[in-house]
Amino acid sequence: MSRQHIPVRAKNIVLIGFMGVGKTTIGKMVADKLYRDFIDVDIEIERRYDKTIPEIFAQHGEGYFREIERNTVIDICDNKQCNIVSLGGGAFKQEAIREKCLDSCLVLFLDLSWDRWKERMDLLIENRPVLHNKSVDEVQEIFDERQAIYAEHNARVTTDNLNPEEVADYIVEILKLGWELHQPLS
Ligand code: S3P
Repeated sequence: MSRQHIPVRAKNIVLIGFMGVGKTTIGKMVADKLYRDFIDVDIEIERRYDKTIPEIFAQHGEGYFREIERNTVIDICDNKQCNIVSLGGGAFKQEAIREKCLDSCLVLFLDLSWDRWKERMDLLIENRPVLHNKSVDEVQEIFDERQAIYAEHNARVTTDNLNPEEVADYIVEILKLGWELHQPLS
């Protein structure tokens, strides 16, 4: 698939990473700092289908969720520019989503270590069907498997020792440097 010709400043900024690493919080902050619109794909799915993510999993299963997740991400990539977009943690499992995002957007991987993530686990389970009825070891297995799919990105941001505001500031800084380098304003 050939790379789409979207000016670098107009490309959507897509945040990927495991559940609960802060994609939504940080994405909103980056959007505010850059005066851009923010889309959380899970919230967009809930809006479009008028059901919560746990309801979609419970009523239709994960396969159906993945299908509407794919359609929603591809639709956003095809029809939006300049947005900050946070993807669900499992979205990059789908090749069609990976290809579309890497083709038309700038993909930033929010990288949190397992040790830091584990500290947040209890707060995250309720709204994440993928984590339901799993032991800590089983969750760690999913966490480890997912690292391979997140390896496809344009830039990685290590978040272990930074608070969300610091991560957002860092992202804005690297975006501005990248934009200036690839598409100077004057
Ligand atoms: C999922 C992550 C969730 C949501 C769904 C499945 C996953 O998004 O898309 O529950 O498979 O990792 P967050 O990463 O925003 O929690």
